[in-house]
Amino acid sequence: MLALSDLSASYDGSRILRGVGLVVPPKSLVCLMGRNGVGKTTTLKSIMGLVAPDSGQVTLDGKVLNGLKPDARARAGLGYVPQGRDIFPHLTVWENLRISLVVHGAKDSGQVDRVLELFPILKEFLQRKGGVLSGGQQQQLAIARALLTDPKILLLDEPTEGIQPNIIDQIGDTLVKIKNEGKISILLVEQYLDFCLAVGDSFYIMDRGAVVAEGPISGLDDDIVKAHLTV
Ligand SMILES: Nc1ncnc2c1ncn2[C@@H]1O[C@H](COP(=O)(O)OP(=O)(O)O)[C@@H](O)[C@H]1O
Ligand SMILES: [Mg+2]
Repeated sequence: MLALSDLSASYDGSRILRGVGLVVPPKSLVCLMGRNGVGKTTTLKSIMGLVAPDSGQVTLDGKVLNGLKPDARARAGLGYVPQGRDIFPHLTVWENLRISLVVHGAKDSGQVDRVLELFPILKEFLQRKGGVLSGGQQQQLAIARALLTDPKILLLDEPTEGIQPNIIDQIGDTLVKIKNEGKISILLVEQYLDFCLAVGDSFYIMDRGAVVAEGPISGLDDDIVKAHLTV
């Protein structure tokens, strides 16, 4: 289980996160929602150790992660797919995947085959350069790469942004499948409400650096949406 308690963080002295608390239990897909600029990405960066908190704690299965560098957090079990897709455009799909394995020091090349089962389109395009893939295919490649680090928790930052609806559905199905396999929980930062309703188990909504609503996804009703999500 990933847990954040009372997490606060600032950029250049201006407070961005104000006591964020959330949990990602085992076998669950948790949606972190909220309008632009409320602190969702900063929350993920704080979890990964890319932003140092002013106060509060990040724990993974009871182990405190505060003070650990991002690479140590990755080894501890956090897989991170940042907003936008940071794949290597000049490397092939296969090379993009291999690099993730090598960087992580994994020996089992069967892992690539297992991850490719989740993304048939990547299997078809192994020899294509990352840069020529569609946005949706690049997003799938970025998720596949994160999975190769064998995470306990997958952190995804707006994976549907700028992606065609049919690919969004495929990505959603894949995330649910990953979660249902039971080994990986997912924290999904997402502004696309219908996607959250389709794939999420529970939600948190942030506003101005704090969690303002939370609950099971079935409790995400129109009043909450009107109050915190519509512009
Ligand atoms: N590197 C940065 N330096 C200064 N301010 C930043 C930086 N990154 C984000 N911010 C500001 O922090 C706030 C929260 O940003 P962010 O976490 O990216 O929000 P979200 O992901 O919810 O859209 C915004 O006001 C944004 O302008
Ligand atoms: Mg963001």
